[in-house]
Amino acid sequence: MADRTIEARDQHPLRRYSNVAVTFHWLTVALVLFQLWLGFSFADLAQGPRRTDLFTWHRTIGAVILLVAIARLTYRLMNPPPPYPPELPAWERAAGTWNHRLFYLLLIAIPIGGLLAVSGHTEGPTITLLGGVQIPKVPGISKDFGELAANIHVLAVWLLILLMALHVAAALKHQFIDRNRAAGRMPPFRDPVDEPVVIGQGSAARSED
Ligand code: HEM
Repeated sequence: MADRTIEARDQHPLRRYSNVAVTFHWLTVALVLFQLWLGFSFADLAQGPRRTDLFTWHRTIGAVILLVAIARLTYRLMNPPPPYPPELPAWERAAGTWNHRLFYLLLIAIPIGGLLAVSGHTEGPTITLLGGVQIPKVPGISKDFGELAANIHVLAVWLLILLMALHVAAALKHQFIDRNRAAGRMPPFRDPVDEPVVIGQGSAARSED
């Protein structure tokens, strides 16, 4: 069956992501970069107040990333993205689509892995976030299972970093080397053809066909 999400359409003007999608995108970038810094910072520290603080931040930002990813995925499923421009070869469209799908998967799986890992070594029934906010831990997680979840969590983070490197390299290549119109669909990237762009996401885009 053909994958409709990699289909391209000739566009005049170029259709771009909606303001909601753009806000979700750059909010996710900020949260993920901060979370990576937190994760790598506390991991190497000896037990102490600084480590405890950074770990509390890490748990809290993880919970926020999970909520934002679920809200974003819900929005994305209800509002299909703007079509790819035809200048982008089919293999790059397929690679981009699968890169994005894996991002959504990892943005949900990584925090859940972290929650399972923390549940494995938390004594009481709840996990403490910033401001003393308590969330229930996942009951019945053994220490061993928690450690397995922690190892998978770290592996998945390295996969996310690899995908981010590919994703950013592709966006910069499209915009500045190929000078095609793919990246211009995500502001503040611009359409190199320099036509005005229109929001091309969701049902409005489909009804313009
Ligand atoms: C500075 C870093 C980043 C840049 C410059 C960037 C750039 C872009 C651009 C230009 C697009 C539109 C291109 C297309 O749809 O093919 C895009 C889409 C997307 N980006 Fe990024 N991105 C960055 C970081 C991230 C990160 C960290 C994530 C998630 C972990 C992410 C997830 C996505 C997703 C899921 C889409 C597709 C949106 C959708 O269809 O729902 N990006 N990005």
